[in-house]
Amino acid sequence: MALEKIKVVIYGVGAIGRMVAKTLLEKEGIEIVGAIDVDPNKVGKDLGEILGLDRKLGVIISNDVDKVLSETKPHVVVHMTQSYIEKVYDQLMGIIKHGVNIVSTCEELSYPHIVDIKKAKELDEAAKRHGCTILGTGINPGFLMDTLAIILTSPCVKVDKITISRVINASIRRGPFQKKIGAGLTIEEFKKKIENKEITGHVGLEQSIALIASALKWNLDKIEVEPVQPVIAEKPVKTDYVDVKPGQVAGLMQIARGIMDGKEVIILNFKAYVGAPEEYDSILIEGTPTIRQKISPCVHGDWGTVGMVVNMIPKVIKASPGLITMKDITLPHATPEDMRKYL
Ligand SMILES: NC(=O)c1ccc[n+]([C@@H]2O[C@H](COP(=O)([O-])OP(=O)(O)OC[C@H]3O[C@@H](n4cnc5c(N)ncnc54)[C@H](OP(=O)(O)O)[C@@H]3O)[C@@H](O)[C@H]2O)c1
Repeated sequence: MALEKIKVVIYGVGAIGRMVAKTLLEKEGIEIVGAIDVDPNKVGKDLGEILGLDRKLGVIISNDVDKVLSETKPHVVVHMTQSYIEKVYDQLMGIIKHGVNIVSTCEELSYPHIVDIKKAKELDEAAKRHGCTILGTGINPGFLMDTLAIILTSPCVKVDKITISRVINASIRRGPFQKKIGAGLTIEEFKKKIENKEITGHVGLEQSIALIASALKWNLDKIEVEPVQPVIAEKPVKTDYVDVKPGQVAGLMQIARGIMDGKEVIILNFKAYVGAPEEYDSILIEGTPTIRQKISPCVHGDWGTVGMVVNMIPKVIKASPGLITMKDITLPHATPEDMRKYL
């Protein structure tokens, strides 16, 4: 590909969108040509101002997707708005019709086929028709509880069972994250928020299991995702944002299982709570050979997501048109050099 700048539009200038934008501004060979959001506090403002920079970037945040994409003609849209296919379907179709590649942090898009096979097929067909590629990625789903496990099976001649755990100490994460996992609530308040869907738990465990099974060609009987459970504080925990007393909710946990021939073959354990004594990501592959891997402390979720999104940009530009998943791309890696070198 000719060495022009890779032109990017930021779609969703929220917490992750702002981190991605700042990271891209530091990179060579890439240019942010547009920014899209619906938040009235952001629309009409210069992106530099919303990023907290002391300079204007000349990129005005707009809620007019067609105008931004037809005027800027980007190579890729980095899409970071919402978690569910039902919510982002029209947003994605609105990008695809411009023939623009998409890297999205929408959790369900990491393996949308198990959510809505019809919509996944429509997205795939539309992308092929318009000659662009769509990828759902992130740190989790997207890497730690799926892609990394898939890569770790590479030296195995036999795989019997995969157990993956992610334990996050939320005390050192941002305030909205601590709130999102219910830290500081009573058990009753937590249950009510689960019922009202104000607390959803981790989105993507089902997608991670399906992605692993699809890579290994395991025909699962079913995927079971247990309801979100509170983690109860045994000791007082004080963070910059919450004060959790013993007996109150420190965070949440969730378990999901992939069942094949009546046996549990993929188990995912997700825990995020304030005051966790150790935070880690671990993968156990029981097979020949058995492989145990542990990352300690666990990979930082926000930065990990930014890294995955940014590093997948050249892969998505180069990929064949259609809806792809992390198992379809060539070996993922960092992009420390000029982004154009990876095309
Ligand atoms: N896969 C992963 O590992 C991973 C990791 C991190 C985050 N995520 C997901 O990525 C998404 C973004 O995360 P975040 O923390 O940045 O969320 P956030 O802070 O809520 O930011 C989302 C931004 O998108 C805007 N938005 C919502 N709907 C929109 C639409 N239809 N068109 C344009 N903009 C729209 C929001 O505006 P309003 O505030 O006005 O709604 C907000 O400014 C979330 O769904 C999150 O769960 C995935």
